[in-house]
Amino acid sequence: MKNFKEQINPDKLPQHIAIIMDGNGRWAKGKGMFRVFGHQNGVHTVRKITEAAAEIGIQFLTLYAFSTENWNRPSFEVKALMELLVDTIAKETPDLMKNNIRLVTIGQMEALPEKCQKQLQQTIAATSANSGLTLILALSYSAKWDLTHAVKSIAHAVKQGTLKADAIDEITINSYLSTAPYPHPDLLIRTSGEQRISNFLLWEIAYSELYFSPKLWPDFSPEDLYQAILDYQNRERRYGKISEQVSEQE
Ligand code: FPP
Repeated sequence: MKNFKEQINPDKLPQHIAIIMDGNGRWAKGKGMFRVFGHQNGVHTVRKITEAAAEIGIQFLTLYAFSTENWNRPSFEVKALMELLVDTIAKETPDLMKNNIRLVTIGQMEALPEKCQKQLQQTIAATSANSGLTLILALSYSAKWDLTHAVKSIAHAVKQGTLKADAIDEITINSYLSTAPYPHPDLLIRTSGEQRISNFLLWEIAYSELYFSPKLWPDFSPEDLYQAILDYQNRERRYGKISEQVSEQE
């Protein structure tokens, strides 16, 4: 019996996978530990999943690392997450280089502590010429924040006369989002058994395939990722058309 990885069709890979990494807190609680212990172990999963995705040839991987709403968590948890982020990015930069991974971010970077912003800028610059996987970290991000920001910028452009209101279409809106440089996700994975979107990439997932894994994020393994990709490959993406039209195109 072939394992999940061996069954993946390399010609039908999702170009972009987005992941809602959920369940760190529950994982730690289940072990009688503090929530931060779950986040620390979540970082090991971030590394393993990023490397696995890069290795099989995924081009874009977006990870929901910190949402706009996460600022409302207890301050010591927010502080621990920010420190973990700085330490991890600093420590992982050589491995990102080794694996030809380019790091970028989406979200309100100005809201992050200065130390975080500096480390991110450094690693983003260092990895900018890498041509393998693009790792997109969503930080202080929410889809409603991004859409609100885009609407404001569009309104300013109309007011200044550089954009005509009648000319606004989906391409215009897309171009004002922080996700504009990247293709929309083909596959969205959420771990921990929860089945909701939590203000993540609302515009961009209009036609994404959704996959919910019962595994808590620290337990989510490369095999689980391969299983999600296989599940995706066995689905038919119709984009509003009927099955016969889709098979004619193939
Ligand atoms: C969700 O679990 C996880 C987060 C809010 C943070 C994710 C952050 C990491 C994995 C570590 C830092 C990331 C990088 C990229 C270095 P939860 O706390 O909501 O878990 P729960 O639902 O069980 O409470």
